[in-house]
Formats: sequence, structure tokens, C-alpha cells
Amino acid sequence: MGNNKITLSGELITTLIGEALSMRTRSYIPYSGFAVGAALLTDSGKIYGGCNIENAAYPATICAERTAMVKAVSEGERGFRAIAIAGGREADPEGYSYPCGTCRQFMREFCDSETFVVIVARSREDYKIFTLEELLPSSFGPESLV
Ligand code: THU
Repeated sequence: MGNNKITLSGELITTLIGEALSMRTRSYIPYSGFAVGAALLTDSGKIYGGCNIENAAYPATICAERTAMVKAVSEGERGFRAIAIAGGREADPEGYSYPCGTCRQFMREFCDSETFVVIVARSREDYKIFTLEELLPSSFGPESLV
């Protein structure tokens, strides 16, 4: 659980995990039965929730993490501190659900790799915590194009 590069308070971590677990119940998952919830914390302290939303044309599905990011960015948010993710099969919701590659890259656009925190949670007490840099090392981002 410990990661000495991360300074997010225990209280904030618990709040974010609680919101991610609650967002799981909003997932629209008729095809996979795999429910994912996410809770994204902005620099100003606001939390945006997201869930996965599937589609009969499977590739049109959007992940929980990107739902949360899209909600926040479309409301004008640009600075983010952390995201909590909780996911698993409806019948077995207890596994760690890591963000997919597309979501990692999507976060990278708006989040500082060294300071943005990704919490992968099974419960409020049981979680793993990473910087985005740990999950997406040597990445390509906006400054790569300058
Ligand atoms: N999913 C997410 O919501 N986030 C991820 O990072 C990985 C996968 C969703 C997409 C799909 O609805 C289901 O999980 C199974 O892939």
C-alpha cells in the first residue's frame, strides 16, 4: 500500500475510494458484466465521478476513468491531483482493476506524471497507490509536440 512519493491524505484517499465504489453501481455493462467506478479529484478539491458505459458496437464503450475525465474537462477543469478506480465482475467485485492503456494516456494529457496519483482499490482498506509515471513510464505528452 505504501508509496513514499505520494502525499495524499488518508482521509482523501478514503473519500475517493468511497466515491469510486459508489460510481460502480451506475455502470452500464450489459455485455461484459464488469463494473468499474472512478472518482477524479481536481486541484480545487472537487470530485468528478465516472462509470463505464458499454455499447452494442463494442469499441464505442467508454471506460470509467475517461468518463470522469471527460465530465471534468468539459466543465472547464484542467488541473487534477488523483483518481480512484474500483472495478470487477458483478459477482466478484473484489479484484484490483487497473486503468487500461488508453485511459493512462488520456490522463497523461491533463495530469503531471510525477505528481498525479492513481489509487486502484478493492475496498476503502485495501488498495494500491501509484504515480502516473509508474503506470505509464517514459510517456508521450503535450510537451513532446513542442
Ligand atoms: N474498463 C474500464 O471502465 N476501465 C478500464 O480501465 C478498463 C476496462 C471497462 C470497459 C468495459 O466496459 C469493461 O471494463 C470490460 O473491459
